[in-house]
Amino acid sequence: MSPDGPWWRHAVIYQVYVRSFADSDGDGIGDLPGVRSRLQYLRDLGVDALWLNPFYPSPQADAGYDVSDYRDVDPRFGTLADADALIRDAHAHGLRIIVDLVPNHTSDQHPWFRAALAAPPGSRERARYLFRDGGGPDGSVPPNNWMSNFGGRAWTRVAEPDGRPGQWYLHLFALEQPDLDWTNDEVRAEFHDILRFWLDRGVDGFRIDVAHGLAKDPEMPDLGAGHATGGQAVEGHPHWDLDEVHDVYRGWRRISDAYPGDRTFVGEVWVADPARLARYLRPDELHTAFNFTFLMAPWDAGALRAAVDESMTELARVGAPATWVLSNHDVTRHVTRYGGGATGLRRARAAALLMLALPGGAYVYQGEELGLPEVEDLPGEVRQDPTFHRTGGSELGRDGCRVPLPWSGAEPSYGFGPGPASWLPQPAGWAELTAERQAGDPSSMLSLYRGALRHRAALPALGSGTLTWLSTEGDVLAFRRDPGFVCVVNAGERPAPAPPGVGDARLLLASGPVGEDGILPGDTAAWYTT
Ligand code: NOJ
Repeated sequence: MSPDGPWWRHAVIYQVYVRSFADSDGDGIGDLPGVRSRLQYLRDLGVDALWLNPFYPSPQADAGYDVSDYRDVDPRFGTLADADALIRDAHAHGLRIIVDLVPNHTSDQHPWFRAALAAPPGSRERARYLFRDGGGPDGSVPPNNWMSNFGGRAWTRVAEPDGRPGQWYLHLFALEQPDLDWTNDEVRAEFHDILRFWLDRGVDGFRIDVAHGLAKDPEMPDLGAGHATGGQAVEGHPHWDLDEVHDVYRGWRRISDAYPGDRTFVGEVWVADPARLARYLRPDELHTAFNFTFLMAPWDAGALRAAVDESMTELARVGAPATWVLSNHDVTRHVTRYGGGATGLRRARAAALLMLALPGGAYVYQGEELGLPEVEDLPGEVRQDPTFHRTGGSELGRDGCRVPLPWSGAEPSYGFGPGPASWLPQPAGWAELTAERQAGDPSSMLSLYRGALRHRAALPALGSGTLTWLSTEGDVLAFRRDPGFVCVVNAGERPAPAPPGVGDARLLLASGPVGEDGILPGDTAAWYTT
């Protein structure tokens, strides 16, 4: 173990959205051999670990978050032998592997759900899911007013085995994603076994999908005022962030702790209150969770500082490290969120230096190191996100941040696969953004990430630890990390000076041109050693 504690306290983890990363066989869909073929790129980038989005057998109603077999690989993405080879090769490259675990729901094609549909109400098969009778004289009224995160109701009525309209089942996401009943011991035992299956294969950890959603109020009351289905959970919500969920994670922690090496859990926990988030990270529960407060903060010095302070204060109470994140496969890419175009890019460069200088770990979503923007003009007919289809197109959904990566060359698929195919079309302008092109350009986003990660690995001040804010004015944020490191971010539009004394220190890296007198242009960050 390093003096900084176990790796997950300070790791930079690269999120591989497998279907959009690299396609080895030319079908337009990224796959595990594709990931394997790019391990050297990831090592050269300087990350410590990879988080792979779901690659399990799945009808792909929600891009693999509808799992029909938790112990295998979907043929689109390869084979179990490919997964084993990837884990082995990643380790040989010094990269750890985190896989995605989807415990809130299965696919409607999972053998358990098919058995539930074939069995009568009240059966053991139905008890693994959340089936309820409907209201009204003929049971045609949904059990309550809960809504799906993807639009429409969270309940779907089934036809009973005899063909008559019957019970309803809960799906907080698409109707192809029935929610499991986590009060059922059989469900708990099954997931313990799934954890062991992947731990035995050598994975270093799990990202837990919808980690705040597993427990539901058994009374299933209607959503009251102020209790939305989407967004971050607030206290008293009947299906988000219930206390009962913590017992599940204590059980999982006992399993992972019994394995050699530092296996880890990172929770996807959408709760509004950092104090509620910290409860998931008590010493006998999950190790880390994504910091969505930071991700959602606007590009504003006050908001960013508040997000950092709140998170660090609450996490410190339970001894957990922060993990900073700017983008993922569910949100608009931050180049676009921060204003798009040249402004968005400048801010994204500065944000990268801010994120990578903060204490704790960080997540890099594939393509952010290339400065990819959201693709906003995908035509409706190529869009695949269930959000788009379940809202009749009124919400565009998440396809725009999932467009396959441009690796090289001047024509689609820009080296994503051997041919022109990619499951979502890549914009023509991406020829300028390929990894190949950026690798040779010292002013590129890729060079900035590589430089920052190289320094981060070499400087004892970065990674785990704490920060001390320096006093600044206006839109400037500055903090010191010991020994001998200062990060300054000018989140305003006008040039501003670094705090007194810092401008004379050695400039290590900057996201844009810094004046000799320490004047930082607007939307610029710089790292100094003192
Ligand atoms: C969160 C995942 O990140 C998202 O992509 C998915 O649609 C939902 N959970 C449902 O599994």
